[in-house]
Amino acid sequence: MGLEQEKKMAAIKSVALVKNGMLVGLGSGSTAAFMILKLGEEVAKGLSIKGVPSSDATAKLAREVGIPLISLEEAMKLDINIDGADEFDSSMQLIKGGGGALLREKIVAYNSKYNVIIADSTKEVRRLGKFKLPIETIPFATKNIIGELTEMGLKPKLRLVKGSPYKTDEENLIVDLDIFEWDDIPNLNEMLIRIPGIVETGLFLDSTDLILVGKGDSVIKIEK
Ligand code: A5P
Repeated sequence: MGLEQEKKMAAIKSVALVKNGMLVGLGSGSTAAFMILKLGEEVAKGLSIKGVPSSDATAKLAREVGIPLISLEEAMKLDINIDGADEFDSSMQLIKGGGGALLREKIVAYNSKYNVIIADSTKEVRRLGKFKLPIETIPFATKNIIGELTEMGLKPKLRLVKGSPYKTDEENLIVDLDIFEWDDIPNLNEMLIRIPGIVETGLFLDSTDLILVGKGDSVIKIEK
């Protein structure tokens, strides 16, 4: 079974959790895209929900498939949020932000009562950090932040697209960090967040209620 199939199976399983009348956080990335397509099909069949997108790209796709959207402030609290991840470990801690949408994704997750992660089997790791940790930074401070994080041994790299700095939906920058050697991840997260100009990190700690992982031809559940 290919990875795309694993993503799709996890995505389809997650949509079964969405019930009439729910306010739904819509994640970003290729796995979340499968979920949005399936949700669009259910809406076409009569499911009545409203979505809050976690990125401009997700908003566009959701509109294309006919999912009614509202803003986060209109929704205030979401019933369920479904998103992908770049890595997760056995304690349901995540690295996200490979697609650069980590800030809005974290805000949507924070404002959701129930957070579901959908993933293919390659996302499961014994130790977080093979995937470089994305952080979102304010342009004004980014060079200084890179200097400080270099001294901390985190090998920061400004994310580029075709040679130019990648810009987030909030017009910020992304710096990718090598955290593989760090043992105390919550402490690292605290240290990063305390540096002025770092807006958010891609570490999603203790925020997930359920992970649905496509593995071969089945979907495995990891729950709190
Ligand atoms: C987007 O910024 C990310 O957090 C995605 O949720 C994450 O990168 C997973 O993406 P894929 O489903 O495309 O692997």
